Amino acid sequence: PAVRRPDDDAPRTLHEPPVGGRIRLTVLVPTRNEAGNVAELLNRLVPAVATIGAEILVVDDSDDDTPAVLARHAAGATVPVRLLHRPAQRRSGGLGGAVLAGAHHARGEWVLVMDGDLQHPPEAAAALAAVALRHDVDVVIGTRYAGHGSRGGLGGLLRELTSVGATRLAKSLFPLRLATVSDPMSGLFVFRRSAVRLDRMHPLGFKVLLELLVRHPGARVAEVSYEMEKRHAGHSKASLSEGVAFLRHLSRLRGQRLVGQIRQRPRTIRERFHELFRMVAFGLVGLSGMVVNTAALWFFYEPAQLHHLVGATLATQLSTSWNFLLVDNLIYRGQRRGSLPARAFRFFLLNNVLLLVRLPVLQALVWAGVGVLAANAVTLVALFLVRFLINDRVIYSA
Ligand code: GDD
Ligand code: MN
Repeated sequence: PAVRRPDDDAPRTLHEPPVGGRIRLTVLVPTRNEAGNVAELLNRLVPAVATIGAEILVVDDSDDDTPAVLARHAAGATVPVRLLHRPAQRRSGGLGGAVLAGAHHARGEWVLVMDGDLQHPPEAAAALAAVALRHDVDVVIGTRYAGHGSRGGLGGLLRELTSVGATRLAKSLFPLRLATVSDPMSGLFVFRRSAVRLDRMHPLGFKVLLELLVRHPGARVAEVSYEMEKRHAGHSKASLSEGVAFLRHLSRLRGQRLVGQIRQRPRTIRERFHELFRMVAFGLVGLSGMVVNTAALWFFYEPAQLHHLVGATLATQLSTSWNFLLVDNLIYRGQRRGSLPARAFRFFLLNNVLLLVRLPVLQALVWAGVGVLAANAVTLVALFLVRFLINDRVIYSA
């Protein structure tokens, strides 16, 4: 299907009072059916951000009269208020898509993203923006999980558990990027417009901050704690289908990152040389592992009389242990990531996934009349480069 560019429509200006000086901050509020909240939101938000040099940009995907209520209450504001209403057929990306669409039209150098239901206290959001403007950072996250932060307003044990679980899951999939981020799922954050490449973003649902972090590994991140409040009116749009969208979003992000990581090339001559050196060392270890593997397979197949596929599976566990000890201690000692069990797990996972590829080939070669030991050796050599690249660029990536 044809993808519409998010800036097909421009926001409508609801109110444009003269502001002294330039607009430094765009407060971007995604809304979906928040008619009961936007008046109170403006009441509290406008005074909180008026001194920063801010504008408010609401990106609305509502079917209720949120736009009308907003227009009515924007009239008295002391800061500019704009509205980008996306008609039903153009609501791509949900909440995340709305944030991206709004970011295209932001006039401020900084963009503050916050919910429209007053769960993010406007005063706390303004304080967060003030921190961003004062420091040399690219992203400032409002966190519920550190310092004095609290998620008391999340509502319900189930939501609490889902939130904690989702945060854990994301952190385990992106351990390096999220190492210093306590609340990657936060809906309250500020980013420097020039530090974010909007064309890299392909949001899907609620977790737009997570995508921003993952797709901008160089962005400098800080966190400020805040206390999440209860929703003012109406109800949350989080749902089971949002949960499913989150999992799809995660796997898409992780998949693209993995492929990107494997394809990454060394840049300088020096890096190339070092890579070549590691490849040779890895090859030598692999060669010794092949001796272990072949000897073990011979043992399982000949004296022990096991089926050759069973023998190959067992032999792989032995040679993988051997290879892991050497690779982990000799080649990548200085580049270890995570605990010993975690590294061993990744290493064994890779070799066993590759085993699933090797076994059918081994069987085909045996059927074609090649001897079991020779056929096994061929499958091992054939996957050498794959094994090296994944080890070097993913498992032990610097
Ligand atoms: N434009 C637009 N389009 N806005 C949306 C959409 C959408 O499809 N879905 C939700 N919103 C708006 C809501 O109107 C509200 O202003 C804000 O996004 C947050 O939505 P809620 O429905 O109130 O979500 P929540 O309170 O359950 O989730 C909040 O906390 C999560 C972490 O626990 C949000 O801040 C999430 O982003 C955050 O991940
Ligand atoms: Mn909410």
